Amino acid sequence: MGRCNDRIALVTGGASGIGAAAARLLAAQGARVMIADRDAEKGVKVAREIGAAAQSVRLDVADAASWEAAVAATLEAFGGWTVLVNSAGILRHGSIESESLEDWRQIMEINVKGTWRGCKLAVAHMKEAGGSIVNLSSIAGIEAGSDLCAYSVSKGAVRLLTKSIALYCADRGWQVRCNSVHPGIIETPMLHTYFAEQPDPEAERAAWDQVMPLGIRGEPEDIGHMIVYLASDESRLVTGAEMVVDGGAMAR
Ligand SMILES: NC(=O)c1ccc[n+]([C@@H]2O[C@H](COP(=O)([O-])OP(=O)(O)OC[C@H]3O[C@@H](n4cnc5c(N)ncnc54)[C@H](O)[C@@H]3O)[C@@H](O)[C@H]2O)c1
Repeated sequence: MGRCNDRIALVTGGASGIGAAAARLLAAQGARVMIADRDAEKGVKVAREIGAAAQSVRLDVADAASWEAAVAATLEAFGGWTVLVNSAGILRHGSIESESLEDWRQIMEINVKGTWRGCKLAVAHMKEAGGSIVNLSSIAGIEAGSDLCAYSVSKGAVRLLTKSIALYCADRGWQVRCNSVHPGIIETPMLHTYFAEQPDPEAERAAWDQVMPLGIRGEPEDIGHMIVYLASDESRLVTGAEMVVDGGAMAR
Protein backbone atom coordinates (compact mmCIF):
# COMPACT_ATOMS: atom_id res chain seq x y z
CA MET A 1 0.00 0.00 0.00
CA GLY A 2 1.03 3.60 -0.58
CA ARG A 3 3.77 3.06 -3.20
CA CYS A 4 2.26 5.83 -5.36
CA ASN A 5 0.81 8.08 -2.65
CA ASP A 6 1.71 11.45 -4.13
CA ARG A 7 1.21 10.46 -7.78
CA ILE A 8 -1.33 11.92 -10.19
CA ALA A 9 -1.68 9.66 -13.23
CA LEU A 10 -3.37 10.17 -16.57
CA VAL A 11 -4.00 6.74 -18.09
CA THR A 12 -4.94 6.62 -21.77
CA GLY A 13 -6.91 3.56 -22.80
CA GLY A 14 -7.86 3.40 -19.12
CA ALA A 15 -11.36 2.11 -19.82
CA SER A 16 -10.26 -1.39 -20.81
CA GLY A 17 -7.69 -4.16 -20.50
CA ILE A 18 -4.19 -3.16 -19.43
CA GLY A 19 -5.05 0.53 -18.94
CA ALA A 20 -7.98 -0.27 -16.65
CA ALA A 21 -5.88 -2.72 -14.61
CA ALA A 22 -3.11 -0.13 -14.30
CA ALA A 23 -5.62 2.51 -13.16
CA ARG A 24 -7.01 0.18 -10.48
CA LEU A 25 -3.58 -0.84 -9.21
CA LEU A 26 -2.22 2.73 -9.22
CA ALA A 27 -5.24 3.88 -7.20
CA ALA A 28 -4.81 0.94 -4.80
CA GLN A 29 -1.26 2.23 -4.19
CA GLY A 30 -2.48 5.73 -3.36
CA ALA A 31 -2.37 7.49 -6.74
CA ARG A 32 -5.13 9.70 -8.05
CA VAL A 33 -6.05 8.64 -11.54
CA MET A 34 -7.63 10.25 -14.59
CA ILE A 35 -9.03 7.60 -16.89
CA ALA A 36 -8.80 8.98 -20.42
CA ASP A 37 -10.35 6.94 -23.20
CA ARG A 38 -12.31 7.50 -26.38
CA ASP A 39 -14.91 5.12 -24.95
CA ALA A 40 -16.23 7.66 -22.43
CA GLU A 41 -19.01 5.42 -21.12
CA LYS A 42 -16.63 2.61 -20.17
CA GLY A 43 -14.24 5.19 -18.71
CA VAL A 44 -16.95 6.49 -16.37
CA LYS A 45 -17.71 2.93 -15.29
CA VAL A 46 -14.10 2.10 -14.42
CA ALA A 47 -13.69 5.42 -12.55
CA ARG A 48 -16.85 4.74 -10.52
CA GLU A 49 -15.62 1.25 -9.62
CA ILE A 50 -12.35 2.74 -8.34
CA GLY A 51 -14.11 5.44 -6.32
CA ALA A 52 -12.98 8.85 -5.07
CA ALA A 53 -9.39 8.48 -6.30
CA ALA A 54 -10.47 8.33 -9.95
CA GLN A 55 -12.19 10.49 -12.50
CA SER A 56 -12.66 10.08 -16.22
CA VAL A 57 -12.47 12.20 -19.33
CA ARG A 58 -13.11 11.48 -23.00
CA LEU A 59 -9.87 11.44 -24.95
CA ASP A 60 -9.11 10.62 -28.56
CA VAL A 61 -5.33 10.35 -28.56
CA ALA A 62 -5.26 11.10 -32.28
CA ASP A 63 -6.69 14.56 -31.67
CA ALA A 64 -4.56 17.45 -30.37
CA ALA A 65 -7.46 19.46 -28.89
CA SER A 66 -8.74 16.37 -27.11
CA TRP A 67 -5.32 15.90 -25.51
CA GLU A 68 -5.20 19.52 -24.31
CA ALA A 69 -8.66 19.10 -22.76
CA ALA A 70 -7.73 15.83 -21.00
CA VAL A 71 -4.60 17.38 -19.47
CA ALA A 72 -6.59 20.45 -18.38
CA ALA A 73 -9.21 18.18 -16.80
CA THR A 74 -6.49 16.30 -14.90
CA LEU A 75 -4.90 19.50 -13.58
CA GLU A 76 -8.27 20.85 -12.56
CA ALA A 77 -9.40 17.64 -10.86
CA PHE A 78 -6.20 16.83 -8.99
CA GLY A 79 -4.04 19.97 -9.05
CA GLY A 80 -1.06 18.36 -10.80
CA TRP A 81 0.19 15.68 -13.18
CA THR A 82 3.16 13.40 -12.47
CA VAL A 83 2.52 10.12 -14.32
CA LEU A 84 1.45 9.43 -17.90
CA VAL A 85 0.54 5.89 -18.95
CA ASN A 86 0.06 5.64 -22.73
CA SER A 87 -2.00 2.47 -23.03
CA ALA A 88 -4.48 3.49 -25.76
CA GLY A 89 -3.78 1.44 -28.85
CA ILE A 90 -5.27 -0.60 -31.65
CA LEU A 91 -4.29 -3.96 -33.11
CA ARG A 92 -5.07 -5.00 -36.67
CA HIS A 93 -3.65 -7.96 -38.52
CA GLY A 94 -2.26 -7.33 -41.98
CA SER A 95 0.89 -7.97 -44.01
CA ILE A 96 2.85 -5.74 -46.38
CA GLU A 97 0.60 -7.16 -49.15
CA SER A 98 -2.80 -7.12 -47.47
CA GLU A 99 -2.65 -3.84 -45.54
CA SER A 100 -4.23 -0.75 -47.04
CA LEU A 101 -2.83 2.73 -46.65
CA GLU A 102 -5.86 3.51 -44.50
CA ASP A 103 -5.05 0.60 -42.10
CA TRP A 104 -1.47 1.89 -41.88
CA ARG A 105 -2.59 5.47 -41.29
CA GLN A 106 -5.03 4.53 -38.49
CA ILE A 107 -2.50 2.41 -36.63
CA MET A 108 0.19 5.10 -36.85
CA GLU A 109 -2.23 7.89 -35.87
CA ILE A 110 -3.24 6.14 -32.65
CA ASN A 111 -0.29 3.97 -31.62
CA VAL A 112 2.54 6.31 -32.62
CA LYS A 113 1.27 9.85 -33.02
CA GLY A 114 -1.16 9.49 -30.11
CA THR A 115 1.67 8.35 -27.84
CA TRP A 116 3.97 11.10 -29.14
CA ARG A 117 1.35 13.78 -28.46
CA GLY A 118 0.90 12.63 -24.87
CA CYS A 119 4.66 12.47 -24.27
CA LYS A 120 5.14 15.96 -25.67
CA LEU A 121 2.57 17.42 -23.28
CA ALA A 122 3.89 15.38 -20.36
CA VAL A 123 7.51 16.49 -20.84
CA ALA A 124 6.43 20.14 -21.10
CA HIS A 125 4.50 19.82 -17.88
CA MET A 126 6.79 17.52 -15.89
CA LYS A 127 10.22 19.00 -16.64
CA GLU A 128 10.00 21.38 -13.68
CA ALA A 129 9.04 18.97 -10.90
CA GLY A 130 9.66 15.53 -12.43
CA GLY A 131 7.49 12.63 -13.44
CA SER A 132 7.24 9.22 -15.04
CA ILE A 133 6.03 8.34 -18.54
CA VAL A 134 5.13 4.73 -19.30
CA ASN A 135 4.53 3.79 -22.93
CA LEU A 136 2.87 0.53 -23.94
CA SER A 137 4.90 -1.10 -26.69
CA SER A 138 4.76 -4.88 -27.21
CA ILE A 139 6.96 -7.90 -27.87
CA ALA A 140 5.87 -7.11 -31.44
CA GLY A 141 7.94 -3.93 -31.08
CA ILE A 142 11.05 -6.09 -30.59
CA GLU A 143 10.31 -8.97 -32.99
CA ALA A 144 8.22 -8.30 -36.08
CA GLY A 145 5.14 -10.33 -36.97
CA SER A 146 4.69 -11.01 -40.69
CA ASP A 147 0.92 -10.58 -40.37
CA LEU A 148 1.26 -7.63 -37.99
CA CYS A 149 3.18 -5.30 -40.29
CA ALA A 150 1.93 -1.82 -39.34
CA TYR A 151 1.34 -2.87 -35.73
CA SER A 152 4.93 -4.13 -35.32
CA VAL A 153 6.28 -0.94 -36.92
CA SER A 154 4.14 1.19 -34.61
CA LYS A 155 5.33 -0.62 -31.50
CA GLY A 156 8.98 -0.47 -32.64
CA ALA A 157 8.51 3.28 -33.03
CA VAL A 158 7.11 3.56 -29.49
CA ARG A 159 10.19 1.71 -28.20
CA LEU A 160 12.62 4.23 -29.73
CA LEU A 161 10.40 7.24 -29.05
CA THR A 162 10.65 6.24 -25.39
CA LYS A 163 14.45 6.04 -25.42
CA SER A 164 14.78 9.37 -27.23
CA ILE A 165 12.60 11.11 -24.64
CA ALA A 166 14.43 9.42 -21.74
CA LEU A 167 17.81 10.65 -22.98
CA TYR A 168 16.54 14.13 -23.85
CA CYS A 169 15.19 14.64 -20.32
CA ALA A 170 18.19 13.06 -18.57
CA ASP A 171 20.65 15.16 -20.59
CA ARG A 172 18.92 18.29 -19.31
CA GLY A 173 18.90 17.17 -15.70
CA TRP A 174 15.13 16.83 -15.70
CA GLN A 175 13.79 14.08 -13.47
CA VAL A 176 11.34 12.87 -16.09
CA ARG A 177 11.77 9.16 -16.64
CA CYS A 178 10.37 7.47 -19.73
CA ASN A 179 10.15 3.70 -20.14
CA SER A 180 8.42 1.26 -22.46
CA VAL A 181 6.57 -1.87 -21.39
CA HIS A 182 6.51 -4.86 -23.74
CA PRO A 183 3.68 -7.24 -22.88
CA GLY A 184 3.48 -10.75 -24.28
CA ILE A 185 -0.01 -12.09 -24.90
CA ILE A 186 -2.46 -10.64 -22.42
CA GLU A 187 -6.14 -11.57 -22.01
CA THR A 188 -7.90 -8.32 -22.90
CA PRO A 189 -10.75 -7.30 -25.23
CA MET A 190 -8.09 -6.34 -27.83
CA LEU A 191 -6.75 -9.90 -27.93
CA HIS A 192 -10.18 -11.53 -27.96
CA THR A 193 -11.40 -9.28 -30.79
CA TYR A 194 -8.26 -10.13 -32.73
CA PHE A 195 -8.92 -13.87 -32.39
CA ALA A 196 -12.59 -13.46 -33.32
CA GLU A 197 -11.59 -11.69 -36.56
CA GLN A 198 -9.39 -14.60 -37.73
CA PRO A 199 -10.67 -17.17 -40.24
CA ASP A 200 -10.03 -19.94 -37.66
CA PRO A 201 -10.11 -18.31 -34.20
CA GLU A 202 -9.46 -21.56 -32.33
CA ALA A 203 -6.38 -22.43 -34.37
CA GLU A 204 -5.08 -18.88 -33.88
CA ARG A 205 -5.70 -19.13 -30.12
CA ALA A 206 -3.83 -22.43 -29.98
CA ALA A 207 -0.89 -20.97 -31.92
CA TRP A 208 -0.67 -17.89 -29.67
CA ASP A 209 -0.85 -20.12 -26.59
CA GLN A 210 2.53 -21.53 -27.66
CA VAL A 211 4.26 -18.14 -27.70
CA MET A 212 4.99 -17.75 -23.98
CA PRO A 213 7.28 -20.49 -22.60
CA LEU A 214 5.87 -20.21 -19.06
CA GLY A 215 2.62 -21.60 -20.44
CA ILE A 216 0.34 -19.37 -18.38
CA ARG A 217 -2.06 -16.88 -19.91
CA GLY A 218 -1.14 -13.28 -19.12
CA GLU A 219 -3.65 -11.11 -17.28
CA PRO A 220 -3.87 -7.29 -17.46
CA GLU A 221 -2.71 -7.10 -13.83
CA ASP A 222 0.60 -8.76 -14.79
CA ILE A 223 1.33 -5.62 -16.80
CA GLY A 224 -0.37 -3.29 -14.30
CA HIS A 225 2.12 -4.31 -11.59
CA MET A 226 5.01 -3.33 -13.85
CA ILE A 227 3.34 0.02 -14.52
CA VAL A 228 2.96 0.66 -10.77
CA TYR A 229 6.69 -0.05 -10.33
CA LEU A 230 7.60 2.38 -13.12
CA ALA A 231 5.28 5.05 -11.70
CA SER A 232 6.76 4.76 -8.21
CA ASP A 233 10.14 5.88 -6.82
CA GLU A 234 11.22 2.23 -6.65
CA SER A 235 12.22 2.69 -10.30
CA ARG A 236 14.03 6.03 -9.80
CA LEU A 237 17.13 4.76 -11.63
CA VAL A 238 15.15 3.25 -14.51
CA THR A 239 14.78 5.30 -17.67
CA GLY A 240 14.92 4.49 -21.37
CA ALA A 241 14.41 0.85 -20.44
CA GLU A 242 12.30 -1.75 -22.21
CA MET A 243 10.48 -3.78 -19.60
CA VAL A 244 9.53 -7.13 -21.11
CA VAL A 245 6.67 -8.96 -19.38
CA ASP A 246 6.10 -11.93 -21.67
CA GLY A 247 6.35 -15.27 -19.89
CA GLY A 248 9.81 -15.75 -21.42
CA ALA A 249 8.85 -15.29 -25.08
CA MET A 250 11.77 -12.97 -25.92
CA ALA A 251 14.25 -15.27 -24.21
CA ARG A 252 13.93 -17.89 -26.96
N1 LIG B 1 -3.36 -7.42 -24.96
C1 LIG B 1 -2.17 -7.75 -25.41
O1 LIG B 1 -1.87 -8.95 -25.62
C2 LIG B 1 -1.12 -6.70 -25.68
C3 LIG B 1 0.17 -7.13 -25.97
C4 LIG B 1 1.15 -6.19 -26.23
C5 LIG B 1 0.87 -4.85 -26.19
N2 LIG B 1 -0.40 -4.44 -25.91
C6 LIG B 1 -0.65 -2.99 -25.90
O2 LIG B 1 -1.20 -2.61 -24.66
C7 LIG B 1 -2.07 -1.49 -24.84
C8 LIG B 1 -3.42 -1.78 -24.21
O3 LIG B 1 -4.01 -2.87 -24.90
P1 LIG B 1 -5.22 -3.74 -24.32
O4 LIG B 1 -4.91 -5.13 -24.66
O5 LIG B 1 -5.48 -3.34 -22.94
O6 LIG B 1 -6.38 -3.27 -25.31
P2 LIG B 1 -7.92 -2.90 -25.07
O7 LIG B 1 -8.52 -2.87 -26.42
O8 LIG B 1 -8.51 -3.77 -24.02
O9 LIG B 1 -7.83 -1.41 -24.51
C9 LIG B 1 -7.39 -0.36 -25.33
C10 LIG B 1 -8.16 0.88 -24.94
O10 LIG B 1 -7.67 1.95 -25.77
C11 LIG B 1 -8.78 2.73 -26.15
N3 LIG B 1 -8.46 3.46 -27.38
C12 LIG B 1 -8.28 2.97 -28.62
N4 LIG B 1 -8.08 3.97 -29.48
C13 LIG B 1 -8.11 5.12 -28.75
C14 LIG B 1 -7.96 6.49 -29.08
N5 LIG B 1 -7.78 6.90 -30.34
N6 LIG B 1 -8.02 7.40 -28.09
C15 LIG B 1 -8.25 7.01 -26.81
N7 LIG B 1 -8.44 5.74 -26.45
C16 LIG B 1 -8.36 4.79 -27.42
C17 LIG B 1 -9.93 1.76 -26.34
O11 LIG B 1 -11.20 2.42 -26.26
C18 LIG B 1 -9.69 0.79 -25.18
O12 LIG B 1 -10.39 1.19 -24.03
C19 LIG B 1 -2.13 -1.24 -26.34
O13 LIG B 1 -1.24 -0.19 -26.67
C20 LIG B 1 -1.66 -2.54 -26.93
O14 LIG B 1 -1.11 -2.38 -28.22
C21 LIG B 1 -1.41 -5.33 -25.65
